[in-house]
Amino acid sequence: MQQKENTRKWNVEASIAAKNTVNPIRQIVDKMNYKPNPNKPTIPLSIGDPCVYGNLKISDYVDQLLIENIKSGKFNGYPPSTGYEFARAAVAEYVQTETSKLNSKDIIIASGASGAIELAFSAILNPGDNILIPKPGFSLYECTSKSKGFGIKYYNLQSQNNFQVDLEHLKSLIDDKTKAILVNNPSNPCGIVYTKQHLQDILAVAEEYCIPIIADEIYADITFGDNVYYPMASLTETVPVLSIGGIAKRFVVPGWRLGWVAIHDRQNILTNAKIPDAIISLSQLILGSNSLIQSVLPQILDKNNKIVQDFCNDLAKTLETHSKLTIDMLSKAHGLKPVPSSGTMYQMIEIDVNAFEDIADDNEFVGKLLSEQSVFLLQGSVFQIPNFFRVVFCAPVDKLTEAYERIIEFCQIHKKK
Ligand SMILES: Cc1ncc(COP(=O)(O)O)c(C=O)c1O
Repeated sequence: MQQKENTRKWNVEASIAAKNTVNPIRQIVDKMNYKPNPNKPTIPLSIGDPCVYGNLKISDYVDQLLIENIKSGKFNGYPPSTGYEFARAAVAEYVQTETSKLNSKDIIIASGASGAIELAFSAILNPGDNILIPKPGFSLYECTSKSKGFGIKYYNLQSQNNFQVDLEHLKSLIDDKTKAILVNNPSNPCGIVYTKQHLQDILAVAEEYCIPIIADEIYADITFGDNVYYPMASLTETVPVLSIGGIAKRFVVPGWRLGWVAIHDRQNILTNAKIPDAIISLSQLILGSNSLIQSVLPQILDKNNKIVQDFCNDLAKTLETHSKLTIDMLSKAHGLKPVPSSGTMYQMIEIDVNAFEDIADDNEFVGKLLSEQSVFLLQGSVFQIPNFFRVVFCAPVDKLTEAYERIIEFCQIHKKK
């Protein structure tokens, strides 16, 4: 029997949302045509994954808890989309402050802090609204916003002033479509922990213009020396704060994909606007986060659990040592100027391109360094700050030392004659 020819065409096309979803890191890094030098082992100091070298591993005790919970068979079903009640209660206890007490209903568990950022943005913004985000800043804020049609306006962090927020610039960006100010403290990529006073100054702007804060506090408590981390919500009675957090960095388990939104709303401003309900509705889109990882939150987040507390203290001390090494060594490199970190796992370094013979910008610095010295860094352009690069200093000391020696040699070779 003869088949009738089908004249219809497949009506399939990638969605606009997908086309608008562009991660600036991939956009810039994938365009680079540089390959590592095959004669030198590669040292990656580029991605913010503290697990790359296996030297910062969470205690076996947590692994055992997880294994027991798997074996119990109790966590194979769907948790509520907002998270198990006991897990939400554990987060509430962990993130509440003396002045802003929380309970389980104030917490929505998400798939990583990334998932929490998406929930918070989507609950507050409509397409056409805008959110103020830091420059330099973590690229997911832009990526999430563009994917959903939310406008972004970058407020400047001043590299000459410890990456403090330029408050006048921040104010100048606010219009009647501005729905939130995102504050990332401690900061990726800057590695800076803001003082209490500076956070209060930012809150004063939010209060004056009646704009809620979304505080990305994923690096909470990873601080060095005398620097103290202040949760944004602990410093205000009036400004509503959606605090984003998670276990990825503090407990060195980014693959476990667990984060949260904590709703601090002492004047019921968000509640009256039904924002908590909005976050709950949005959490139903992916039916919440992984059940097994939620099952160990009560132990991981227990501030009286000595094993976990010792791990966290040791982690901060190790990172502080790595930070000092980074600053000490890279300050000696020709043409480079570190802006000393006060927390996190990141160090920003300014490149004086005029000090080099044949390096036009940060892209070229990072590309040539890779092809000659096999050291991977991320150029500042990825974070909207050209002529800087970011170092992730989680690698063991011997690897960091070798990488920094290669960077010093590279700077010497390319020095302007
Ligand atoms: C500032 C900041 N916020 C959020 C995240 C995302 O964290 P998660 O892995 O929990 O999604 C990261 C990850 O690097 C980050 O640097």
